[in-house]
Amino acid sequence: MLRRPRRNRKSETIRQLVSETTLSVTDLIFPMFVTEGDNLAVEVASMPGIFRYSADRLLDEMHACQELGINTFALFPQIEEHKKDSRATESHNPDGLYLRTIRQIKAQLPGLCLMTDVAMDPYSSDGHDGLVQNSLPAGQASIILNDETLPILGKMALAQARAGADILGPSDMMDGRVGYLREMLDDEGFENVSIMAYSAKYASAFYGPFRDALDSAPRFGDKKTYQMNPANRSEALIEAELDYAEGADFLMVKPALPYLDVIRDLSENFAVPIAAYNVSGEYAMVKAAARNGWLDGEKAMQEMLLGIKRAGAKVILTYFAKEFAIIAKR
Ligand code: PBG
Repeated sequence: MLRRPRRNRKSETIRQLVSETTLSVTDLIFPMFVTEGDNLAVEVASMPGIFRYSADRLLDEMHACQELGINTFALFPQIEEHKKDSRATESHNPDGLYLRTIRQIKAQLPGLCLMTDVAMDPYSSDGHDGLVQNSLPAGQASIILNDETLPILGKMALAQARAGADILGPSDMMDGRVGYLREMLDDEGFENVSIMAYSAKYASAFYGPFRDALDSAPRFGDKKTYQMNPANRSEALIEAELDYAEGADFLMVKPALPYLDVIRDLSENFAVPIAAYNVSGEYAMVKAAARNGWLDGEKAMQEMLLGIKRAGAKVILTYFAKEFAIIAKR
């Protein structure tokens, strides 16, 4: 036998020497949830180890994460029910929870890179990412309006840029929104604010725990007329091409694990960095199995993140970020 592939696995040193993929804490973005109040840290039932923090505690936690080497965070707000309306007005209220918190973070933790979320759902009484057409005949499926949603997203994006956001994450899947936001940002002097486009965002069952965390589940229907069909691969290239042409700095695939082929496709076809969102349901699965003693949670996490990176993601948004950073330090 001339070829013995096992020779390259014979010791830890050699295994490391020939390792084709490396994962570093600087590849990760930590998504976090902010809620109204003081001194609050409420664990999300379906996401053990992940909390909704009041702004004061969020800042402490972000600071602790920075000490562990995590520098980039994505922030999502839990908006009080009575502040939601059909036009997501609260999303551009400068004194509202989200914009206030963004300003505080940027003032107190200046070195931190903050990604914000551009979509109507946390603020919408309909729980949808776009504006819902009202007064439809009974029995007719509701319509999520595309072009009418863009100015709302624009206001939201501009308010976030003004508050100090470094990267905007349009997660709504409306057509044309990246170009719309890019032009608006440039016109207002925010040409250095980046856009990470949720390009291939699938209509997925794996967002369940996130919607629990924010109470943001759609009040009726589903998101299938704007989020992508899990059966489709070529369509992701169309979405990515548009977002690239419209000026996106990063292209994202979401969720990550069931869509590794899409991550690979995008990474082979576009020179901008590809991001993958290792979503709430993917986190919850590992945690639930580990709690039951059905698998080794730490090893499963490492393998999962490495697999996403190997598929072609440069950046991974993951709720495991802090855990990964702690393990990487020891
Ligand atoms: C919605 C949004 C969702 C997530 C991020 N932004 C869920 C949805 O589309 O309903 C999900 C993230 C996760 O599951 O971790 N704008």
